[in-house]
Amino acid sequence: MAIPAHYIQELIQRNNIVDAISGHVHLKRNGRIYKGLCPFHSERTPSFTVYPDTQSYYCFGCGAGGDVINFTKEINGLTYIETVKMLAQQSGMPLPDEDDKLSRLKSRIYEMNRIAARYFHANLNSENGKTARAYLRKRQLSDKTIVSFGLGYAGDDWRGLCNHLKSKGYTEEEMTSAYLVARSSKGNVYDIFRNRVMFPIIDLRGNVIAFGGRLMEGEGPKYLNSGDTPVFKKSNGLFALNIAKKTGKESFILAEGYMDVISLHQAGFNNAIATLGTALTSQQAKLIADYAKNVIIAYDSDGAGQKATRRAMDMFSKENVSVQVLQMEGAKDPDEYIKRFGKEKFEMLINKANSALDFELIKLRQQYDIRDTQGRIDYLTKACDILATIPSPVLQDVYCSRLANETGADKESIKLELENSKNKAYKSNNYKKNKEILKEGIAGGIKVDYRQQGNTLPKVFAQQQIIASLIRDNDIFELVDSQLTENDFTDLNMKNAYIQYKKLKQEGQDVSYALLCHYLDDETRKILAKINAGNADIIITQNDLQMHIDNLKSAPMGQNEIKQTSVEDLQKRIESLKEKRK
Ligand code: GTP
Ligand code: MN
Repeated sequence: MAIPAHYIQELIQRNNIVDAISGHVHLKRNGRIYKGLCPFHSERTPSFTVYPDTQSYYCFGCGAGGDVINFTKEINGLTYIETVKMLAQQSGMPLPDEDDKLSRLKSRIYEMNRIAARYFHANLNSENGKTARAYLRKRQLSDKTIVSFGLGYAGDDWRGLCNHLKSKGYTEEEMTSAYLVARSSKGNVYDIFRNRVMFPIIDLRGNVIAFGGRLMEGEGPKYLNSGDTPVFKKSNGLFALNIAKKTGKESFILAEGYMDVISLHQAGFNNAIATLGTALTSQQAKLIADYAKNVIIAYDSDGAGQKATRRAMDMFSKENVSVQVLQMEGAKDPDEYIKRFGKEKFEMLINKANSALDFELIKLRQQYDIRDTQGRIDYLTKACDILATIPSPVLQDVYCSRLANETGADKESIKLELENSKNKAYKSNNYKKNKEILKEGIAGGIKVDYRQQGNTLPKVFAQQQIIASLIRDNDIFELVDSQLTENDFTDLNMKNAYIQYKKLKQEGQDVSYALLCHYLDDETRKILAKINAGNADIIITQNDLQMHIDNLKSAPMGQNEIKQTSVEDLQKRIESLKEKRK
């Protein structure tokens, strides 16, 4: 990307990572660092850490890590350039010169998508679309519904859309980047969507950004969805959010499938949305949180649906969106439920939807026979484990009473059991933390992973430490540069990092982690975030650095030598490395 280094440099300076992250994560200061609950995975104890010194973040739980630009990008589900623009705008900087080629391609894709949607819709209404119309009728969709969702039909023809787009002046190249057309191994282009009922996916600005296509009969996957394109990221998209948003309702219904959503809308529940055939992501949960305070999860009643429900509950709780869970009996999904029992019944279902906690307890209750003493004990023990995770003592008390009523057990004993569960939870958290520390080798910042193969093992570590040191202290560059060349970096990630670092140095830049990240791939960015995290509490002396340089210059360790190294030897080696440090 052609954004100059000085521009990035200023952007980073104007956007402090602690401030940027504070807008999304509740951070608590702890000495020189900040900690909070990771926004990228679900957790109850904070392992997400922000390091003002290196302007980096790292999560010990899920391994997410990066700089302020990367954080902003991930949390908002933006592209790189969109992120740069957003940060620029927020900090009062002029925008970087728009990457003309990309923005032109994007608007061409929007146009092609719109043309394709019209083409599919016209097809549905043509002679060709007879079977598709019959299919939609069989699914009980009214004409009004078909029009309001802009449903369509992609015919059998292998080149129908191709030819249509060509006649409108679009190139094959453009069509393939829109994911409407693919190229065969022989080099011929053909329509991706064939013989399917088409569901256009529309973003909040009303642009057609992608399609889902349903097979009516025959061989092949039931649904085919657009892949990612410059205007579409499947993991960010939501079906019918454009409509649900306009209702202004505080509560949304989240279903699994396109058909569920359409059926729900037709029945008057126009606040229904769905992900695009993938599990809910944190970006989607965030997007929903921008418009809804409450979400009613109406996933399929099968095992997979219930598992996905749990996952979604966790995602929403992080966004402070309250959750209710619909329990459908006698139907597998909302579409079927409405058809079988009518919309009034569905409305009733919504009105008595359970809270997330109730959902957990009901699921648990179904696993035990509480007429049996052991069953009752097991149920109560597990139930207390669940109650131990809720923060409110008042609520805990309410539920203890309920459990007592339900099982006939004494409330005071249930409360004792709950205390027990709370202690257990506390201990297991501590244990997990210790394990994390060992795993990450924070103590001393020294990590030798014996599972890694190959003779570059300890050297990779040395290379990472050298790069991390260079980022922290630009003044040591001469010392490194006088002894090593890029070819001494055998690890490709670190080699590239060194090359980029050196180039920036030669341009006279002060190279921070964030600036370097601009020139690194995702993997290298993450590795360095992790090393920064490990080094946060230690001072890397000139001696340490020299030790790593010497390590790189010494003859490579033989393959066998590594393989035969026992865990004890590795531990000894770590100890001696630490000794040297002192
Ligand atoms: P009907 O079966 O027609 O009622 O559709 P549905 O929308 O209820 O689909 P279902 O509940 O089976 O699946 C939920 C969602 O998962 C769908 O809306 C699709 O987005 C996605 N999905 C289902 N089957 C496939 C498939 O074969 N491939 C892909 N990529 N996605 C699928
Ligand atoms: Mn269905």
